[in-house]
Amino acid sequence: MKIDILLGLQWGDEGKGKIVDYLAPKYDVVARFQGGPNAGHTLEFDGIKHVLHQIPSGIFRSNIKNIIGNGVVLDPIIFKTEIEGLDRYRLAVKENLFISKKTQLILPTHRLLDAAYEKAKGEKKIGSTLKGIGPTYEDKIARHGLRIGDILLPNFKEKYAKLVKRHTDILNAHSFDYELEKSEQEFFEAVQFLKGFELVESEYLINEELSSGAGILAEGAQGSLLDVDFGSYPFVTSSNTMAAGACTGLGVAPANIGEVFGIFKAYCTRVGSGPFPTELHDRIGQEMQKEGNEFGATTGRPRRCGWLDLPALKYTCMINGVTQLFMMKADVLNIFKEIKVCTAYELEDGSQTQILPYEIGETTLNPIYKTFKGWCTGLDGINDFDELPQALMEYIKYIETELNIPINIVSVGPDRTQTILRNTAKVAV
Ligand code: GDP
Ligand code: IMO
Ligand code: MG
Repeated sequence: MKIDILLGLQWGDEGKGKIVDYLAPKYDVVARFQGGPNAGHTLEFDGIKHVLHQIPSGIFRSNIKNIIGNGVVLDPIIFKTEIEGLDRYRLAVKENLFISKKTQLILPTHRLLDAAYEKAKGEKKIGSTLKGIGPTYEDKIARHGLRIGDILLPNFKEKYAKLVKRHTDILNAHSFDYELEKSEQEFFEAVQFLKGFELVESEYLINEELSSGAGILAEGAQGSLLDVDFGSYPFVTSSNTMAAGACTGLGVAPANIGEVFGIFKAYCTRVGSGPFPTELHDRIGQEMQKEGNEFGATTGRPRRCGWLDLPALKYTCMINGVTQLFMMKADVLNIFKEIKVCTAYELEDGSQTQILPYEIGETTLNPIYKTFKGWCTGLDGINDFDELPQALMEYIKYIETELNIPINIVSVGPDRTQTILRNTAKVAV
């Protein structure tokens, strides 16, 4: 078997958690390969809404191994809170969760550094989730980082103190006020808690699973337009959110990648700072935000909203080698008489392009729109792809033709059951 990857094609929050949970019964393993508690993945079923930050979204399905891979950054405090929050559901979490010893640890001082760096940036701030993601990946690349496996070493406290000293020197140089005692105490309690879990060499586990014919789904976090290499730098996250990140973040060879499921909203959202060519600053944008309940699952911040951006989607399909598309939140567009799609950008010199320009942050890109008729009807109760309203089918067909990739799932509500799978799709559950 090969490993399939599900990843966001926009600026995150596309609905990855919902679809990983929906697809999980088809797989034996679900694995996170990058990001950390900056992610907020929402799952809804049986009338309950769950938001996962660190734990893979296969955790609610029985008999599935959930792996936190080496490419992830993990905050033990958030992890402990999240696990405790699951207690009441009586899941076999300890049996089904495996954490790579090579996963990087987020320290309380990483969070402080995130805040100090953002403060220093002033108006140019990234709009980070302030979970310490950037500083933790920075330490990983600079080779100062601490990894989960280190918590088992007798000299862990010394290693910790050495890294914290490095951090407090920087904080002091920034004249950043902080209080560390309480969060350090929480951190060490959480580290103790973490020791009760399966800490493994997950690259061996995954490759053994692959060899034995198991199905593996890699769960992306964030979205390709937040990728550290290909996103709108510097307004990005600090990891490779794209398909290639699954290879480095789990230790699987490119030849073992099977399907790449690209997931996108029927429109666009972005939370945090940075360029967003199709952003709507008008009443339509506000209506989208309200109808889509577009508020961050991690920070609660309002998400900026706008029409679908086809050049950006073409770009992210290209860099990921997307084989199947899943379109989310189609129901949010039910209220609009007209629906627009950006097909190209007009540059400042009047020329048109479908290429995302390097200077995306510094130039004004005027989106050129194609207008579609809205379907103006509810989508509740539709279970069959062929029963979708004709105007929605035309919207879907246009996107498929432009991207030359089939849309095999259309999601029409937050609940697990509000998911329409095309019967010709290879992903049949
Ligand atoms: P993720 O980070 O990609 O997992 O996405 P989030 O959970 O951050 O944000 C997606 C939000 O949209 C969540 O509140 C979901 O419950 C919700 N959602 C997912 N799919 C749909 C859908 O098809 N329709 C509607 N209305 N909401 C959806
Ligand atoms: P999921 O997995 C949406 C954004 C932040 C900020 C930038 C950098 O739920 O889709 P960071 O904390 O990573 O340093 O923030 O990236 N961001 C996300 N936006 N969904 C996410 O995750 C995000 N994770 C980070 O808002 O603009
Ligand atoms: Mg999210």
